[in-house]
Amino acid sequence: MTDACVTSIAGGHLYDYPQYYDLVFGVGTSGECDFLQGCFDLHARRRVKRVFEPACGSGRLLIKLAQRGLDVSGCDLNRPSVDYCNRRFKRRGLRPAAFVADIATISLPLKVDAAFNLLSSFQLLPNEHEAERHLAAMARSLARGGLYIVGLHLMPSEGRRISAERWTATRGRLSVCCRIWTRQLHRRRRQERCVMLSEIKTPGTRLRIEEELRFRTYSALQLQRLFRKVREFDAVAIYDFTYDLFDPISVGPETQDVVYVLRRR
Ligand SMILES: C[S@@+](CC[C@H](N)C(=O)[O-])C[C@H]1O[C@@H](n2cnc3c(N)ncnc32)[C@H](O)[C@@H]1O
Repeated sequence: MTDACVTSIAGGHLYDYPQYYDLVFGVGTSGECDFLQGCFDLHARRRVKRVFEPACGSGRLLIKLAQRGLDVSGCDLNRPSVDYCNRRFKRRGLRPAAFVADIATISLPLKVDAAFNLLSSFQLLPNEHEAERHLAAMARSLARGGLYIVGLHLMPSEGRRISAERWTATRGRLSVCCRIWTRQLHRRRRQERCVMLSEIKTPGTRLRIEEELRFRTYSALQLQRLFRKVREFDAVAIYDFTYDLFDPISVGPETQDVVYVLRRR
């Protein structure tokens, strides 16, 4: 057996390697798209044709929805992810769909019928001001009766809080394992500092990327209060990360993952 060549990148970002991000977080993409389209049919008060994803990353959801006939676009702050997303659109003969922009200040040239943000990216907005600005910007970008679907983790007031998660995926001889755990929780500052450790293995190589992610925390009440500040939205349904359209949830003290369906008035 030969020794693997190990490269460690402390302070790097998995988002700078969108092909690996895509493999490890792409496992449930089809199911997520089914759920999104189910929400469009069930909850929107308009036909959904044009959709937007703030913080679209590698574009794993955008490309699938485009292949299902939707007119898609997205933005992200991470340049390698945006380039990767656009390359995969071009390869399939489609118009590049992603651009670099901050979701706190996003402004779209044309209104969209729906938008979605599933993997807690909303919690990367560092404070209340930015979160409110983002929601207001999304409300301005949506046509009346359109939807904004937002998935995130709530801070439960009872029960055991999930403080570590792990995802793995393999393709051929490539394997990616990504673990994330809480390093520090500042309840008063409403900030959770997490470590994300990604290990990428191929025969003979091993890449380790260690980074810190900072999430703003939300209790159920804090999130509802924030949503209420943006008067253009009504919360019309809540689901969890099982993405079961026929099993909406009501939020209780132990609820941790939520997917809110907000409808533009
Ligand atoms: C967990 S990934 C989610 C990617 C994608 N939504 C998905 O479901 O696969 C979070 C993404 O948020 C992006 N991001 C973080 N803060 C951002 C901001 N202020 N504006 C735009 N993108 C941001 C990161 O670059 C990263 O691609």
